[in-house]
Amino acid sequence: MSVVLSDIEAEPLARAEAEIQTIGASTLAMRIDVSRAEEVQALEEATFSRFGVPELLVNNAGIAAGGLAWENTPNEWHQVMGVNLHGVVNGVRSFVPHMLEAAKQSDDFEAHIVNVASMAGLQCAPLMSLYNATKFAVLGFTETLYHDLALLTDRVNVSVVCPGMVPTGISRSERHAPVTTLAPTASQQLARMMTDQGMALSRVSAADVAQQTMAAVMESRFYVFTHPQDMHNVSVRAADQLAGRNPTDPFEKMPGVTAYLKKSLNAG
Ligand SMILES: NC(=O)c1ccc[n+]([C@@H]2O[C@H](COP(=O)([O-])OP(=O)(O)OC[C@H]3O[C@@H](n4cnc5c(N)ncnc54)[C@H](O)[C@@H]3O)[C@@H](O)[C@H]2O)c1
Repeated sequence: MSVVLSDIEAEPLARAEAEIQTIGASTLAMRIDVSRAEEVQALEEATFSRFGVPELLVNNAGIAAGGLAWENTPNEWHQVMGVNLHGVVNGVRSFVPHMLEAAKQSDDFEAHIVNVASMAGLQCAPLMSLYNATKFAVLGFTETLYHDLALLTDRVNVSVVCPGMVPTGISRSERHAPVTTLAPTASQQLARMMTDQGMALSRVSAADVAQQTMAAVMESRFYVFTHPQDMHNVSVRAADQLAGRNPTDPFEKMPGVTAYLKKSLNAG
């Protein structure tokens, strides 16, 4: 494959491009901010003129946010919604019409879209309202996209990736944050600590997620669930909803976590 890469960070982008070139693939790398529709459109134009219509589109960029639901600032809402949700929407708006047109022109053309959501799009751990809201939105958007595509063709497919904790750079998402003088609140520090601990304990790597995602693309499978142990909370939540019950504590199977959170938040 020829590979188009984009990221907001120039240095890791250049490193990834160099790595891909060593296996002999042609590359195009562009530093863009996916939350800006005009920058994604510039990527679309550059992709189209260099390689033509892409056969695989992966909307992966995402940033983390934590803390009590009422503590994230309007700027944080704007930024995290911008990257996690609008980034995905911008990718779909720019590239999917080309894919559909190519499928109309040639019976041999097939394409696949991968949107990266999260288990946070299926369950509601506390101190994660902003991040959870973005990932619920990505999941709802992507399921609807699946149905929309099916109305037009069976040769442009989509998958949604819902990982649990994976050790990556996401807990350092503040590196992307707008300059702010606000110090993180106690609940935001607690959320960050929980994310770091969850990642440290995780046995699933980013490479594992990538391999499972490629398998799903090859099989035209919609859902990519990489953490089977996390699915329990999904069924409990669905059962609560069907029964009209109040939400079960997502940490009910992890004794001590909720008590620790309550103690920490009420201490100061
Ligand atoms: N790591 C996890 O535990 C986990 C779990 C579930 C879902 N996810 C999702 O996986 C995806 C990848 O995240 P990751 O964990 O590899 O984190 P990461 O920080 O290692 O990678 C995210 C990448 O997105 C880039 N990025 C951030 N803002 C951008 C912007 N505005 N425009 C373009 N690029 C931008 C970053 O520079 C970085 O290279 C995200 O959508 C994340 O929400 C991660």
